[in-house]
Amino acid sequence: MKCRICRERAVIYMPAHRLALCGMHYPEWFRRQVERAIKKYRMFRRDERVLVAVSGGKDSAALWHALHHLGYETAGLYLHLGIEREGYSDQSRAVVRALAEKLNRPLHEVSIPDVLGLGIEYAPAITHRPVCSTCGLVKRYHMNRVAAELGYPVVATGHNLDDEAVTLLNNLLGWHHEYLIRQAPVLPASEGFARKVKPLIHLEEKQTTVYVVVEGIPFERDECPFSVGSTNLILKDVMYRLEHHSPGTKRRFVDGFFRWRSEHLHPREGEKPELNACRMCGYPTTGDICAYCRIQQRVQQKRVPSPS
Ligand code: AMP
Ligand code: FES
Ligand code: ZN
Ligand code: ZN
Repeated sequence: MKCRICRERAVIYMPAHRLALCGMHYPEWFRRQVERAIKKYRMFRRDERVLVAVSGGKDSAALWHALHHLGYETAGLYLHLGIEREGYSDQSRAVVRALAEKLNRPLHEVSIPDVLGLGIEYAPAITHRPVCSTCGLVKRYHMNRVAAELGYPVVATGHNLDDEAVTLLNNLLGWHHEYLIRQAPVLPASEGFARKVKPLIHLEEKQTTVYVVVEGIPFERDECPFSVGSTNLILKDVMYRLEHHSPGTKRRFVDGFFRWRSEHLHPREGEKPELNACRMCGYPTTGDICAYCRIQQRVQQKRVPSPS
């Protein structure tokens, strides 16, 4: 297959766009898609510093690289979750550091074992919840905290079209009204928290994979060892088949939802709870102490030697 622009050998064919591009024209196209999403959803302006949450996986690595090459002022944030299984966290950190060096951009790091007192894979013993749910809570907390403390108005994450389609399908299957309200390409800043944006919203997983390979961007190939076997993998397969059968399905599904959501989906009466400052950390919470600080408290209590 040949590149539509220069007729050189194509590195990718995208059925939904009926478009084949070569190794030179594809990265330009990819970055144009990122820029379009930023403009379409008014994610951020050129004069705003962007904190890019980088896990080391291909999506967030591609995002940081693309934003940097589009001329945005970026810094990375890496959260070391202390996942020892398969050396996952140490390996991802090495990749993110290599990327920061390649881009010559600052990288902020937080070690969860240091700040929380335990690696995330040991959290279920404290929270009695799956690793991934506590992990999500801890990640959101520190993304918010770092952005607030260092004065970044916006946090960008590497969620792509496939992630968004799967999350949407999951939220619809369970009619998770409150999650559907919050599923958006941009979450405006509120209660002192930075705006959250997803500039890869129009790009598929395969497209980010080709981008990182063609651009020689360091990235971690292994998935988090705790993601294996999750329901999301089944939903991902369902979406893949639908897309294969009818290219463009994912994009129509997600974009259509965003349009519908902004017109029709609003918090129900009483669904916007009143927020207070957490007694421990000062961040907004619905109760007295926020969920993160409650976990931290329980970790500390476990450490206190029992009187004998
Ligand atoms: P996930 O929650 O693993 O689906 O990741 C979604 C997005 O969150 C990624 O694309 C990153 O932008 C961000 N993210 C996930 N894990 C980390 C991490 N350990 N450090 C920094 N950002 C992360
Ligand atoms: Fe958090 Fe896998 S990245 S549990
Ligand atoms: Zn070309
Ligand atoms: Zn707190």
